[in-house]
Amino acid sequence: MQNFLDINKIAPDQLRGILDEASRIKIARQGLPKGTKDIEKVLTGKMVALIFEKPSTRTRVSFDLGVRQMGGETMVLSGSELQLGHGETIADTARVLSRYVDLIMIRTFDEATLLEMADHATVPVINGLTNRTHPCQIMADILTFEEHSGPIRGKRVVWTGDGNNVCASFIHAAGQFGFDFIFTGPQTLEPEPEFMNEAQSKGVRVEIIRDPVEAVTGADLVVTDTWISMHDSQTARERRHNQLRGYQVNDSLMKHAKPDAIFMHCLPAHRNEEVTSSVMDGLQSVVFDEAENRLHAQKAVMRWCLSQ
Ligand code: CP
Ligand code: NVA
Repeated sequence: MQNFLDINKIAPDQLRGILDEASRIKIARQGLPKGTKDIEKVLTGKMVALIFEKPSTRTRVSFDLGVRQMGGETMVLSGSELQLGHGETIADTARVLSRYVDLIMIRTFDEATLLEMADHATVPVINGLTNRTHPCQIMADILTFEEHSGPIRGKRVVWTGDGNNVCASFIHAAGQFGFDFIFTGPQTLEPEPEFMNEAQSKGVRVEIIRDPVEAVTGADLVVTDTWISMHDSQTARERRHNQLRGYQVNDSLMKHAKPDAIFMHCLPAHRNEEVTSSVMDGLQSVVFDEAENRLHAQKAVMRWCLSQ
């Protein structure tokens, strides 16, 4: 039994194995209608709880579909339907759910909730996003990058905008998969030094370059995300927009990346805020491949969790 909590907690060879499995699973389904089951129904007889304390389109649908394709069943639960936060401890919830289901995926606010769930569950727990990280997204992103551009090792990945949870998991991945990571954004929204120091200690270049043009120059991949995450207060909206406006990904910024660079966004995107529609819908954008790859990558993650 193995938890999938963060990319920096899993050995690089295991992460690579998960991605290889994701590619294999994806190829094996080519041409099959989406609703049909895989040839290998590895989750037959298994029940998976999908817990959401925040909204979700991709994570919710891709996990649910992935479990069904593998022959299993799901219970999709919103935080407000459970006793989470109504006095019962997360630890007790974890113990109870472990008596009913074979796997738990949780999207929550504080990382502490995820960690308490994982500490007390006797079934694997998967991080479906916290305020701090979003590892499933980045597994899909690495898969997507390598499908389009080949091995990510040694490549230059540039994150523009808010140094948020998705950015943090990208920095974890830089250390584990061996690519350079440049953050460009305002000083007030930089990623936590802890993430950057850990990746640097693994021998990769992790740097902050304030000027977006300088940062993006020579990039193999340009990535951004919403300027206001689900856990951010809406009252900071105007201040954040003012700080981040200069970091919008638009055609003139993309011109400084390598000619064959690609653009990624985990979605949902706020068109013409963090990215223009011309980039989102342009030839360099792979955002919908990323969304599709959530399905394949997470199926491989679930198989890995249940494999030992
Ligand atoms: N990218 C992502 O996790 O999307 P959802 O919030 O729709 O799940
Ligand atoms: N940073 C965003 C990602 C959504 C998938 C958020 O946390 O809201």
